[in-house]
Amino acid sequence: VIKMTDLDLNGKRVFIRADLNVPVKDGVVTSDARIRATIPTLKLALEKGAKVMVTSHLGRPTEGEFTEADSLQPVVDYLNNALDVPVRLVRDYLDGVEVNQGEVVVLENVRINKGEKKNDAELGKKYAALCDVFVMDAFGTAHRAQASTYGVAEYAPIACAGPLLAAELDALGKALKEPQRPMLAIVGGSKVSTKLTVLDSLSKIADQLIVGGGIANTFIAAEGNNVGKSLYEADLIPEAQRLAKATNIPVPVDVRVGTEFSETAPATEKAINEVTDNESIFDIGDKTAEEFAALIKNAKTILWNGPVGVFEFPNFRKGTEVISQAIAESDAFSIAGGGDTLAAIDLFGIADKISYISTGGGAFLEFVEGKVLPAVEILEKRAKN
Ligand code: 3PG
Repeated sequence: VIKMTDLDLNGKRVFIRADLNVPVKDGVVTSDARIRATIPTLKLALEKGAKVMVTSHLGRPTEGEFTEADSLQPVVDYLNNALDVPVRLVRDYLDGVEVNQGEVVVLENVRINKGEKKNDAELGKKYAALCDVFVMDAFGTAHRAQASTYGVAEYAPIACAGPLLAAELDALGKALKEPQRPMLAIVGGSKVSTKLTVLDSLSKIADQLIVGGGIANTFIAAEGNNVGKSLYEADLIPEAQRLAKATNIPVPVDVRVGTEFSETAPATEKAINEVTDNESIFDIGDKTAEEFAALIKNAKTILWNGPVGVFEFPNFRKGTEVISQAIAESDAFSIAGGGDTLAAIDLFGIADKISYISTGGGAFLEFVEGKVLPAVEILEKRAKN
């Protein structure tokens, strides 16, 4: 693909598609990881003398029905503090927008625009007409073929990869294609069905898998244990049994259970065969955490997506904390991605101990699964022609 870093952007109208889809509460950004990751791209475009436009989706609003809650204004406020050039929000831009050198114009939430999600060609052409150069830098949205990630790249005079997208592809590609071995993958979280597929693909490239969360519960049940009211997927038990046989996935030997899903619910540690009908598994136990930490210590490459317990609740935090510390202390090349994983990394303050933190959630997983990311595919196509 063509890279933004290689282009002369002086005086050019540059349309940057970023992933600024961040959590917002009461008009304030509550987790800024994605914005921080995008700032170097904006600064570079400004340094290169570009007329900078940047846009993103925010949430999943109804197309054509704008409400204040859908606005990128909180992101604009954040950027105004973070950059030393003026940053302004433009709501109506599809028929043209005035942009000067030395400022950043934020184009309002693309998902308000009719045709965005279905990659409407006319909308893609409108975005393309705004610019001389389209920069795709939204790794977190690269798995979506939408008008602002795909259509615009088809029709813009030049379509290139931004530095963040390029870095994500590079780091993830490096870890997945020629990993230093042993390679360990940790897959946790609550999205059991989607992640079991990931596990299948991962079992072909990783030397060791560790499962946590709802996925682990499915494996625990697949071994014939009672999982009580735990989150798991009964239909996936045969698949879990097949995977357990085909690969080396250690099933937790002990767990922390609770009887209600709440911040203050007390935790009881139990052996894996002692869980009762009214209990839910909310974390791995100490023995299991130690066993997992030893596997982490042994790894040369670590891929981490998903916590191993309900780390948001203090009583069920320990498993994820032990795993996080083990990753932080490891010399392995470590990559982490996904919303909950980034929140855990922030909570335990280990961001600077992870070799690479991906801004992608769904996109990270699809990349790991070996799927082609459509927004990257179109950049490759454009680079060829
Ligand atoms: C994400 O948060 O994973 C990306 O921003 C993509 O969002 P989406 O799932 O709403 O397309």
